[in-house]
Amino acid sequence: MAKLEILTYPNPVLREISAPVTKFDAQLKTLVSDMLETMYEANGIGLAAIQVGRPLQLLVIDTRPRDEENRRYAYDEMTDLEKQIEQPLVLINPQIVKGYGSTTFDEGCLSIPSFYETVKRFEKIDMKAQDVNGQEFTFTADGLLAICIQHEMDHLAGTLFIDHISFLKSNKIKNTIKKNGYPTPEELKEQKKKKTAETQKA
Ligand code: CO
Repeated sequence: MAKLEILTYPNPVLREISAPVTKFDAQLKTLVSDMLETMYEANGIGLAAIQVGRPLQLLVIDTRPRDEENRRYAYDEMTDLEKQIEQPLVLINPQIVKGYGSTTFDEGCLSIPSFYETVKRFEKIDMKAQDVNGQEFTFTADGLLAICIQHEMDHLAGTLFIDHISFLKSNKIKNTIKKNGYPTPEELKEQKKKKTAETQKA
């Protein structure tokens, strides 16, 4: 297994359209395990292949609560539907068959670290995808898992969460990144500490 480099906005590769996976071979399995390692290392809950520079319709997802620091903000517990789905989840050539209702969530992205904005998504989705062996499967998801899947599916079309928010907010984030870059890992830790302290106060 190997940790891969996660591309960050404004890298133009993130805007590429991902192609369907056609070869379910050993190379694909290696990419999947490398992506899982990369996602866990970065404390992420989802990662699309394009975020590591591979324009393939492949997502890895794990929204299970991991530790106190990575608790599921706004979702204390997994829903009954989420509990039925085995994670980590590997979705190849995924499709949203049907979406129901709507919900909002403060989304972040490993490719736009340290920025969060409220994005509107379907509350529940019927999904169709293939597994790492090419076997097709279907399932229904809600809760954080459904939000995460929709966020990751966007990456396959070159879309980022900042494309879903107001022009004003999106421009503010883009300009901040272009002007100051991203916070260093140390600065991020400080921010996180502050945020945790604030949440505990509330
Ligand atoms: Co993302």
